[in-house]
Amino acid sequence: MQNSDDKPGVPLRSATSNEEAQGAIDALLHEERVFRPLPETLSRANISPHQLAEAREQADRDSLAYWEEAAEELEWFAKWDSVLDDSNAPFYRWFPGAQCNIVHNALDRHIETANKNKLALIWEGEPGDSRTFTYYELYRHVNKFANALRSLGISRGDRVIVYMPPLPETIIAMLAVAKIGAAHSLVFAGFSAKALRDRINDSQAKCVITADGFYRNGRVVHLKSTVDEALAGVCETCAESMVVVHRANVETDMQEGRDYWYEDLVRQARPYAETEVMDASDPLFLLHTSGATGKPKGIVHGHGGYMVGVHRTFSWVFDIKPTDLFWCTADPGWITGHSYGVYGPLLNGATTVLYEGHPLYPQADRVWSTVERYGVTILYTVPTLIRMLMRFGDEYPRMRDLSTLRLLGSVGEPINPEAWVWFHKVIGKGDCPLLDTWWQTETGMFMISPLPVSLLKPGSVTKPLPGVEVDVYDENGHPVPPGKGGLLVVTKPWPSMMIDVYNDPERYKETYWSKFPGVYLAGDVARKDEDGYIWIQGRADDVLVIAGHRIGTAELESALASHKAVAEAAVIGIPDAIKGEVAKAFVLLNQDWEPSHQLTKELKEHIRRELGPVAVVKTIAYPDSLPKTRSGKIVRRILKAQELGQDVGDTSTLEH
Ligand code: PRX
Repeated sequence: MQNSDDKPGVPLRSATSNEEAQGAIDALLHEERVFRPLPETLSRANISPHQLAEAREQADRDSLAYWEEAAEELEWFAKWDSVLDDSNAPFYRWFPGAQCNIVHNALDRHIETANKNKLALIWEGEPGDSRTFTYYELYRHVNKFANALRSLGISRGDRVIVYMPPLPETIIAMLAVAKIGAAHSLVFAGFSAKALRDRINDSQAKCVITADGFYRNGRVVHLKSTVDEALAGVCETCAESMVVVHRANVETDMQEGRDYWYEDLVRQARPYAETEVMDASDPLFLLHTSGATGKPKGIVHGHGGYMVGVHRTFSWVFDIKPTDLFWCTADPGWITGHSYGVYGPLLNGATTVLYEGHPLYPQADRVWSTVERYGVTILYTVPTLIRMLMRFGDEYPRMRDLSTLRLLGSVGEPINPEAWVWFHKVIGKGDCPLLDTWWQTETGMFMISPLPVSLLKPGSVTKPLPGVEVDVYDENGHPVPPGKGGLLVVTKPWPSMMIDVYNDPERYKETYWSKFPGVYLAGDVARKDEDGYIWIQGRADDVLVIAGHRIGTAELESALASHKAVAEAAVIGIPDAIKGEVAKAFVLLNQDWEPSHQLTKELKEHIRRELGPVAVVKTIAYPDSLPKTRSGKIVRRILKAQELGQDVGDTSTLEH
């Protein structure tokens, strides 16, 4: 790592009031490019601009009526007594009295329709093997595995850990667990034995489903042995059984009476299983948040509201047609994989693509060759992967036929305008709308996102979807005027909102609902522009206050990434006796660039030109990599702790 410590830049005035400090944010990021929908996009969209405007108007008038109509599109075993019970807020309960099961809508009902023989899933392994499943085939697998789970004593109300790489059996396991009324809790297969043990204990899971191993970046990763290690220290009543899927043919010790091969169980299972009738708010899954900001929490989602929100938002935002082939590159172990890799597509009868391995294996065109091979029409991915692929230049995508693509999507982090424009131009050939979707594990569904017919501004997540109400508040809970920065809040309940933090309702209330009564605090900093477009500036914890001026790390990082030498950047604040805080940047350079004093100077000037004189980066370092969560988010608190010589805290969810 090379450090370069030039003199500090232009001294900053101290802000005299909160207002002035807030105003500083607004001078930043001069992104003025606008992309209008093309005539072809407008003519083939399911939802026209007029329908979208009408839906917004209707939802503004009566959001419960809007969501009730959305719920009518699905099948229920019993209808609701009312749309929303807010008598015990913030523990909102959607569709009280209703009975349903998400698996009935994602799978069972399709068997009675033309979707029966349609492909539900195309799976590709890293070595190049592939498997496909029609809706009927998937239904058969899920039924059998549901019976197998029942034979192990798993039933309604239990929790089951799914510690799996992206395999067809991962999806089969999720659906089978939900079908019998238990709750699944996916744990990303890259997590350590300790992270797994913590999650087993926290969720008091009765069973763990795993694989012997899997392929990642050309190597075989052993998985079952990690589960053995995790189980050595779990609570007594946890993980009474383990189911192991054959994937990588690695040497595997099986413990008699506890461990079962998936294939053996399924071979003996009966072909049809009853789908459990659930109350709308019965738990469907637990998912521990990625932990970019501290100890993971078990976020709980239920069957009914979650299903309504995910079904509607997937169909509207991705403008789903019967012929679409949808690829979400996120691992099923993240909320993105849950809502839009598995449930969203299946609820809508769409075909979803799942890939097991590393996106750059065996070389940097794997994503593009996969799009070409299957004819992917919608590609939904994360900025960190877009930036990584961008580093390899335009040649790889140019060698592939990407003409089937019609929509692109992004999620998980603010996408810097440079990456946005590259993705749109080089991958989407300028005619695929790029849908930047803002949401969270906690929200369950897209909250702020364009539709294909929306006018797009690179770097903005545009406007809340119909039926969703958000605002930007100052510290005192007052909406800030357009152009000002502040805290992003959701001001009305939405159907797929989390139900609780598992076993910790106090933490649920405290974290999300205590700062502003009756209002959900997202934990992000954002600003609205004159057109009502929302610009996410990052997590509130990641905002710097330099000489009284508030600057989002995302803005400084985006400005750095707009320089041709920079592939990716992370910025942190460091305490400073005079300015309160100063910024330090960690920069990964593009191929063919070397760190130098000259480059450091140039980058600092570049930021000042892009963002104005308030945006001073004092120090720039050039590490070989940046600390990231397994889902690809930069963990600035680690950089900061290292910088200040402090304990780095819980790192169980980080990439190693
Ligand atoms: O900071 C926001 C960022 O990701 C956070 C939620 O993280 P997680 O629960 O892991 O879910 C990620 C996938 C939904 C948010 O609080 N985030 C998510 N989407 C965007 C985003 N930041 C900017 N733009 C987005 N489109």
